[in-house]
Amino acid sequence: MPAGTWTLRPADADDRQAIRRLWAESFGPPDGEADRWLDLTIGDAPARCWVATAPAADVVGFLFAAEVDRRFLQSYLRDHPIVDSLPTRIALIHMLGVTSEWQSAGVATALVRQSLKWASERVSVMLAALWRRDDHVDSSGLSPKLGFTHVSTVEGFYHDRIYCPDCGTSCSCPAAIHVKSLTDEQPS
Ligand SMILES: CC(C)(COP(=O)(O)OP(=O)(O)OC[C@H]1O[C@@H](n2cnc3c(N)ncnc32)[C@H](O)[C@@H]1OP(=O)(O)O)[C@@H](O)C(=O)NCCC(=O)NCCS
Repeated sequence: MPAGTWTLRPADADDRQAIRRLWAESFGPPDGEADRWLDLTIGDAPARCWVATAPAADVVGFLFAAEVDRRFLQSYLRDHPIVDSLPTRIALIHMLGVTSEWQSAGVATALVRQSLKWASERVSVMLAALWRRDDHVDSSGLSPKLGFTHVSTVEGFYHDRIYCPDCGTSCSCPAAIHVKSLTDEQPS
């Protein structure tokens, strides 16, 4: 972990290139997906992107979150039965990545906490479909630490990715679906 401090702030249009780079480093080429989420979060939609920045290191972490309705969630989770047990509008953490040099420094914890504060002003439940990786640190430690409950694992969740840093061209990684009640969160 490098010396020095990092800070969080909302992402802006100037962060596009750094987020694309970090997305590719974390998840493989974004193939337009990062830009679609940036368009959402920088515009007026109920969605946000936060970045962690460090002196002389630019953007070292990012997280996308969005408020979504049941129709969006059914498509996102491919009609997973968990959707029927959730409120009609919830918040979703879509992607979370921290550059390898700055991992294990609390960056992801702070990014998720920031998103929880934002979401708690809008909805009562946060959901995250979290990438499970056999040979890398993933968010297995992060989600219980922040009060998320694992409700299901979806095999092959990322099958439509054109490239996966772990699997190569075709991704067979599972996603672990986690939910958290926001009723006890402090608003931001
Ligand atoms: C998963 C990831 C986002 C965690 O980011 P991070 O900034 O390193 O996380 P934090 O420092 O906030 O640590 C959060 C928890 O993760 C676990 N963790 C972090 N680094 C770890 C390590 N080297 N070994 C084991 N567990 C670790 C711990 O449980 C930690 O909580 P603790 O410090 O209170 O024990 C980061 O490793 C990453 O970007 N990985 C590649 C992309 C990815 O897998 N994204 C998540 C799936 S969508």
